[in-house]
Amino acid sequence: MIEKILCKIALQGPLSFPEYLEIALYDPISGYYAGSSQRIGRNGDFYTSVSVGPLFGQLLARHFLNWWENNHRPRRWRILEIGANDGRLAEDIITALHAVSPPAWQSLEYAILEPLPGLRAAQQDRLKNLPAKLRVSASLTDLQQTSLPGIAFANEVLDALPFHLVKRMDQAWQELYVNADSCDRLFFSPSPIAPDSSLAARLAKLGEKFPDGYQTEVRTNFGAFLESVSSCLLEGSLIFFDYGFAAPEYYEDSRSNGTLRTYSNHQAGENPLLRPGEADITAHVDFTDLAMAARKLDFHPTGFSTQGSFLTHLARPMMLNNELSDPKAIARFQSLTHPAHLGSRFHVIEFSSKGESPSLIKQRLAL
Ligand SMILES: C[S@@+](CC[C@H](N)C(=O)[O-])C[C@H]1O[C@@H](n2cnc3c(N)ncnc32)[C@H](O)[C@@H]1O
Repeated sequence: MIEKILCKIALQGPLSFPEYLEIALYDPISGYYAGSSQRIGRNGDFYTSVSVGPLFGQLLARHFLNWWENNHRPRRWRILEIGANDGRLAEDIITALHAVSPPAWQSLEYAILEPLPGLRAAQQDRLKNLPAKLRVSASLTDLQQTSLPGIAFANEVLDALPFHLVKRMDQAWQELYVNADSCDRLFFSPSPIAPDSSLAARLAKLGEKFPDGYQTEVRTNFGAFLESVSSCLLEGSLIFFDYGFAAPEYYEDSRSNGTLRTYSNHQAGENPLLRPGEADITAHVDFTDLAMAARKLDFHPTGFSTQGSFLTHLARPMMLNNELSDPKAIARFQSLTHPAHLGSRFHVIEFSSKGESPSLIKQRLAL
């Protein structure tokens, strides 16, 4: 991996941080995510809500079923999961839908967008015996040609999309590039930002009120990502679960080192240049920026809440039916929803192709 990065720097000069992340995380042979579907969970580097057990998928299945019911039970509909790791969440959702509503399951096509061949194989293997019309694709082209009403969603994928690193120096923004010294050690070198670039346009929105030394992350890829995903739906919802903040909180004065983290063996780190390909590299999501990109595509934010309150609302019918009464189920529910676990760190944002955003949601997102 390091040889690949050094070779690229030797050929083309310092790499922008998104270029570096494309190799470190997504190189199809030695990228972090290409290596194994076991990166997530007890024996991996970090947990996600999927690691907690099937309850997350069971609750999502109820939300998707509500969408189907509220949208006149379309005869054919699609759930598109983006970045499905080993297929476990897909398995939990399809199994729950099959159990709760055979008619909704009958008319469902469950699609997965997975760019990495190793993960696609793991998903196909895991889901081979499941009762659903399943499509696992490397690209969205075929799904775009046969778009259906439905839902596209992702858990912890937005934070894994490549991002730029920027730093205030001499009262101006500079972009941090990845460079190599004569001993092949990687280091950051600052570079001016082209005024006509998409990065400069994003930074213009952030303004200039940051002190020298302030470092943060900026994504310029939300628009293209949302456009490709939403074009697989005739109409419907986009739902994202992730850690992050609305812009005013994201760019608080106190967050002067940004939110970039690495994860390896359940330990968080701050140096993304240390062992490329061996650790996850991530940054929080700016939900305001995401919402602005979605609005350009006529998808309007209809919900923005903590994961805790979103899932607690969905769990009410299960609680009333005593389906969440055994100690294991209660412990799982608490892991997903309690503020000290995943409940307040994670947010859920939902966009709809129909209707307007409630003013409270616009206010929460500072739109
Ligand atoms: C942190 S993992 C989350 C996996 C899974 N959703 C879960 O909750 O366990 C991030 C995943 O996002 C996927 N990913 C990143 N960029 C993507 C893209 N443009 N399209 C689809 N998946 C992507 C990666 O392959 C990786 O599997």
